[in-house]
Amino acid sequence: MYPREIIEEVRSANDIADVIGSYVPLKKRGGSYFGLCPFHNEKTPSFSVLSDRQMYHCFGCGAGGNVISFIMQIENYDFIDALKYLADRVHFMLPAKQNPGYDKQLRERDILRKIHKDAAYFYCNCLSSEEGFAVQQYLSNRGIVLRKRFGLGYSRDKWDGVYKELTSKGYKREDLLKSGLIIKNKERYYDRFRNRLMFPIMDIDAHVVGFGGRVLGEGEPKYLNSPETKLFNKSRQLYGIHAARKARIKEIILVEGYMDVLSLHQAGFPQTVGVLGTALTPEHSRLLKKINCESVIIFFDRDAAGIKATLRAIPVLLEAGFKVKCLQVTEDVKDPDEYLQKYGNLHFKALLENALSNYVFRINLLADEHDLKNTEGRISFTQEAAVIIAGIENAIEAEVIVMETSALSGISAEAIYKEVEKLRSPLYTNMQAPRDRRLAQRRNVNGEKGVTDARKGILSILFENPLIALKIKEYLSPEEMGGGLAAELLDIAYKNGENNISQSPANVITLFETIEEQKEAAELLRENFIYDNKTALEKALNEMWRITKKAALNESLAKTEESGEIDLRRVQNLGMAIRDLEKTYITV
Ligand code: CTP
Ligand code: MN
Repeated sequence: MYPREIIEEVRSANDIADVIGSYVPLKKRGGSYFGLCPFHNEKTPSFSVLSDRQMYHCFGCGAGGNVISFIMQIENYDFIDALKYLADRVHFMLPAKQNPGYDKQLRERDILRKIHKDAAYFYCNCLSSEEGFAVQQYLSNRGIVLRKRFGLGYSRDKWDGVYKELTSKGYKREDLLKSGLIIKNKERYYDRFRNRLMFPIMDIDAHVVGFGGRVLGEGEPKYLNSPETKLFNKSRQLYGIHAARKARIKEIILVEGYMDVLSLHQAGFPQTVGVLGTALTPEHSRLLKKINCESVIIFFDRDAAGIKATLRAIPVLLEAGFKVKCLQVTEDVKDPDEYLQKYGNLHFKALLENALSNYVFRINLLADEHDLKNTEGRISFTQEAAVIIAGIENAIEAEVIVMETSALSGISAEAIYKEVEKLRSPLYTNMQAPRDRRLAQRRNVNGEKGVTDARKGILSILFENPLIALKIKEYLSPEEMGGGLAAELLDIAYKNGENNISQSPANVITLFETIEEQKEAAELLRENFIYDNKTALEKALNEMWRITKKAALNESLAKTEESGEIDLRRVQNLGMAIRDLEKTYITV
C-alpha cells in the first residue's frame, strides 16, 4: 500500500465533479451536482455529487464514497488500480517502488492507442471515398446502416495504404510493428489488412485496440484479426462493449460474430456484445461486471461448435455470478444475424422473452443426446442431469429442473434428489460465511433514526475538529456507537484528537479499502453538520449517549427479568438508571 499522504494527494488532485462528470452528465443545483445514477437503472436523477465534501451519494441505490470509491465502483478496479488510474489522470508520479516500469508501459500504451485511432480514421475515410464504393454496396446489401457507431472502414487493395498514412504522421516503424497493423518481411514493411471491410475493435472506453477485417465476398481467411499486442487480446475484449455500456441494460446478449453484434444493435438491441469466435473467459466476465451486467443471454451459432461454446461459456458466467439464459432457436437459421434478416425484430424480441434458463437448455440438450425409450439411456440421462442440478443454488429453480428431468426420464423426483445430494460437496457450504457475517453485523447497527443522525453528526464534527474530539472522549466510548464502522471511526477520530490531526470526510473514506466499507463510511460522513455550534454538538452527543445507554440498560433489565432469579434490587437499580438518564444532559 502507498503512504497515506500519497493517497490523499492523488485523491485531492482529482476533483470529484470533473471525474464523475466525464462518466455521467451532471447538472448543477446549489453546491451539488445531480445526474442519473450509473450504478442502477433510473429515469429521474437521484445521484448527487457534493463538491464541497468531495463525495458522491445515490439516494436511490445507496452507492456512495469519494473519488477513489467512484473509480473502484465504476471501473470495477481494486483500490490500487483506482489510485493508479487517478494518478495517471493528473500526471502524478506514484512512487516507482510500487511498480517499476509503470511509466514506460503507459507511454507505450498511449502511442499504440494513437496509432489505432489514426488508422481507424484512415480506414473510415477510405470507406467513404470513391474507392470504397464496392464496400458500401456490400454493406447495404447486408442491410448494415450503423457505420458510424462502430466506425466501420475499408482497407484498400494496396500494400502500403495505412503504412504510408501512419509514417507520414511521424510514427516510428518499431511502434507500427508493435501495433500489428504493419508487418515486416525481410526489409519490406507492408499492411496486414488489404482489401477488407474493417471492424475496429473498441475497448470499454471506446479506444480502438485492434481490428477485424472481413474479406469481401468469398475467400480465406474470412476474417483476419489483429495479432495479440500490448493493447489487444481477444480473450479480454468483447466486441461492442463500448456501445452496450451506454445502453445501461443489465441483461446482456452474448453472440459470436461481428455481424451479429451489428445487426442486433441496429435492430434495437444495443445490449449485445460479441466474443469474436473465441472461448469466453473470466476476463470477459469481469468486463461484463464493469458495465453492471447481471444476467447474460447466450445466442451463439446454431452449429455444433456454437453449442459446444455455449456449454463451455455457461459455467464461466455462473462462476462470475451472472444469471445465464440460452435461446431456443429453430434449426433453419445459422446465427443471430440470419435470424433477424429472416424473422425481424418483433420475433427476436419474443425469442428473448422466452429465453430458457441455462439449466433447462442443458437438460434439453442431454435429452436429445440420449435414447429415453431405453432403460440404459434413461439412467445415463438422469445421472448426467443430476450433475447439472447439483450446481443449482436456488432451491426453487432446482425443484423445477428436477421435475422436468423426472418428466423426461420417468424416474421419480425423490430418486433424482438422492443422486443430487450425493454429488453436492460439503465443502461448498459456508465458504462465504465469515465475510458475509461480518457485513451483516455491520449492517445490523442500531437503525433508530435518532442514533443514526446523532452518530453521523458526532463523527463528521469530530473528524474536522480534533480538539473537540479530545473533549468528547470522556463522554462517549466507541462501543457506545452501536458497533460496526461507526465504532471504528470514532476510535480513529479520538486518535486524531490526541495527535491534533483534522481529516476531511473524503480523506477518511480512503482509510478503508473495500467498496462496501467505503460506502458505509461515506454514509456516516456524508452530511454537513454545523460543527461550530456547541449546542448542536451537545444535542447530538446527548441523543447518542442517551439512546445507546438506554438500550444497553433495557437489555440488561430484560435479561435480569428473563433469568427468573429476580434480584429485585438489581431491577430497581436498572430502572432508576434509565430514569436518571432521561434527566441527564451532558455539556461539553
Ligand atoms: N472468426 C475469426 N476468424 C475466422 C472466422 C471467424 O476471427 N477466420 C470470428 C469472427 O469474429 C466472426 C466469428 O468468429 O465474426 C463468427 O464466425 P462466422 O460465423 O464464420 O462469421 P459471421 O460472424 O457469421 O460472419 P458473416 O456473417 O460475415 O459470414
Ligand atoms: Mn453470419
